[in-house]
Parts: sequence; structure tokens; C-alpha cells
Amino acid sequence: MILRDSHKRIIRDLRVSLTDRCNFRCFYCLPNGEPPLARKDTILTFEEIERICKIFVSLGIEKIRLTGGEPMLRRDIELLIGKLSKLKAQSAEFGVQNSPEENNQKLKDLALTTNGFSIPAKAAELKKLGLDRLTISLDSLKRERFKEITGKDELENVFKSIAAAQSAGLVPVKINSVIVRGRNDDEILDFAKFAREMDVSMRFIEFMPLDSGHEWKREMVVSAKEIRETIAAHFPLELTEKSRGMATAWRYKFADTDKGEIGIIAPVTEMFCGACSRIRLTADGQIRTCLFSTTEHNLRDVLRSGADDAEIIEFIQQVVLQKEASHQINDTDFIQPVRTMSFIGG
Ligand code: GTP
Ligand code: 5AD
Ligand code: SF4
Repeated sequence: MILRDSHKRIIRDLRVSLTDRCNFRCFYCLPNGEPPLARKDTILTFEEIERICKIFVSLGIEKIRLTGGEPMLRRDIELLIGKLSKLKAQSAEFGVQNSPEENNQKLKDLALTTNGFSIPAKAAELKKLGLDRLTISLDSLKRERFKEITGKDELENVFKSIAAAQSAGLVPVKINSVIVRGRNDDEILDFAKFAREMDVSMRFIEFMPLDSGHEWKREMVVSAKEIRETIAAHFPLELTEKSRGMATAWRYKFADTDKGEIGIIAPVTEMFCGACSRIRLTADGQIRTCLFSTTEHNLRDVLRSGADDAEIIEFIQQVVLQKEASHQINDTDFIQPVRTMSFIGG
């Protein structure tokens, strides 16, 4: 069994938000630190998350990314990572008749997106538990500016987290940087240098209207074209894959070295919805078929009503059929979703 939506896209990538809380206040995400929207009793338990992930893997999901908020704030996250990593080894078999090949579906990749805060102390353990790789947010290489952007004086700690992730083997380490006009667009080249020096994949992301402050304006978006040209003027780039496939990023290597990589993620100016393979689960158990969905699907209630696996599978399948063809950011009547990135999961 595989999950196919009504636009013939196959869903392979599940993003699970573990909490809507965060200890940073990045201006493009959660500037005002809105109080957590999900209550303790509505947050999915680890057992529930594990069960849902298992079912998704039986339906062909190959990649699971844990996000938030800041997922490392979720107490005992190590226990969950240990459980989910077992989905890479075990065949997921359920009450539904599959072909032997389908019964052997396995998770291939378990990743986590983090602000890096608690990674220096945890990287080695996370690797041991079966986490494959980390993506760490880093929006400035300057201490004062990092503090302005995130509300935290933690730049040195984030540098340490990158080093810790590398030495623990949580590779390739990807670094997310949301580039915003007038805030950090003067650091594009420095980030490219950083990618080369640190041998990391530096991902430049266009600012999307998902910020809790509702400050987003089109003029603040620095386009993929501009980012690409700024870097290529100093460091010639080679596109490594002609098409993005199901991925979000255009990927480039530097022409003169194998160290470091550039990824450009352009949801606004070069949208990639046509090949979208993603589905999202919020911390309180809602399925979101798109980052920009205006409706959610309450899997938590289905689960807690005592549904068996076959019923849950049926629910997921009909939700997937409702997946939007694309986001509407570029339409004049675009409405920003009520839930922000901190809740949906980056
Ligand atoms: P890999 O699993 O490493 O390939 O990651 P990815 O390419 O899915 O990227 P990642 O999960 O690190 O996401 C990077 C950023 O891309 C996110 O923080 C978002 O800003 C943006 N992004 C990710 N998924 C989507 C999506 O489905 N739609 C849109 N519009 N943006 C997305
Ligand atoms: N636009 C684009 N990306 C965003 N992220 C958070 N908010 C936004 C936004 N408004 C991404 C950042 C961060 C990840 C968790 O989510 O890349 O690293
Ligand atoms: Fe997929 Fe929606 Fe993201 Fe487009 S905006 S790539 S449809 S999740």
C-alpha cells in the first residue's frame, strides 16, 4: 500500500511536531512567544506517536523528521527516538493484506530539526539511539545579530552543536538559514564560506508567511535567484541534481572543492509543490496536508476513540486525498494560516 494523493503525488515524508514550545524567539517564526496552543492532555503521547509512525511506515513513508517548536524540549525525547529508529529495522505488518514486498516497508531516514540549544550534550546519545542526522537553524554568524534574530545569546552554543553533530556522525549536517531583506541578506557570502570551511550543507530559505507576528511582506523575501547569483559571483557553483525531485532544495556543490554544499529552498519564487511528498502531524495530533492548509484533520480523536489499524489507515488515506495542489502565497487573496511555523513544524 502506498499513499497517493488526488494529484498523483506519492507521500513519502512525514514531519512530526513534538511540541509547539520553543526557547528561542526567532522573529520569522515566533517573535512574541505566543503561549503554547496545545494543552498537555491534547499532546500526543510517545506511544501514540510511535503507533501513528508505524502505520505511516506501513503506508510507504520512508522519511520521518521530528520538528517543533523545539523538539529537544520534549521531555525524554531520547525514548521516542529509540522507538522510532526501530522502524528502520522491522518490517511493519498490519491487519491489512499487503503484498510481501509492501509488508517489508521500512523507515529509511530519521532526522531532527533543532535550534541546536541542547545538542552539544546530547549528540552522541542521539546517534547511538538511531537518529540519522540533524538540521540546525543558524541565521547569523554575528553574535549581536544572532541575539537580535533569535532573542538568545547562543551563537557559540550553536557552533558547538554543529561540531558535536559532526563528530557524533549525525551527517550530513544541514544548516537552515532564513534569509530576510535588511536582516541578514548581507551575510549570504559569509554563509557560503562557512559551508566550505565547516563542510556542511548550508540551506538558504526564502521567508514564508508563517510568522506569529504577521510581519511577513513580499519585499522581505530574498529570492533564490538573488541568493544563487550572490554566491556564484564569488564561488562558482555546480547544480548537483538537474531536478529537485521530491526535495525542497536546489542543491549545488562548489566548483573548486568537494567540501560543503549549498541548498536553496525557494517556496515563494520557485515553488516546489508539484512534487510535494510531505505530510505533517502536529503535536496535538492533527494531520496537516500542507504547510499552508486552512483545515486540519483530527487523527488524535480517531486514535483515542479506540480505532483499529485498518480504521486509522482508512482515515489517513482519505485525508491524503484532500492534499492541496499547492500553496497560495502568490495569490492576491492569500490568507496566512492561523497556526504558525512553531506549531506546524519547520
Ligand atoms: P531533507 O530531509 O534533509 O531533504 O530536508 P528538507 O529538504 O525536507 O528540508 P528541511 O526539512 O530541513 O526543511 C527546510 C525548510 O524548508 C523548512 O524549514 C521550511 O522552511 C521549508 N520547507 C520544508 N518543507 C516544506 C514544504 O513542504 N513546503 C514549503 N513551502 N516549505 C517547506
Ligand atoms: N519562513 C521560512 N522558514 C521558516 N522556518 C521557520 N519559520 C519560517 C518562515 N517564516 C524554518 C527555519 C527553521 C525551521 C524550524 O523552520 O528554517 O530552521
Ligand atoms: Fe507541499 Fe504545501 Fe509545501 Fe507546497 S506548500 S510543498 S504543497 S506542503
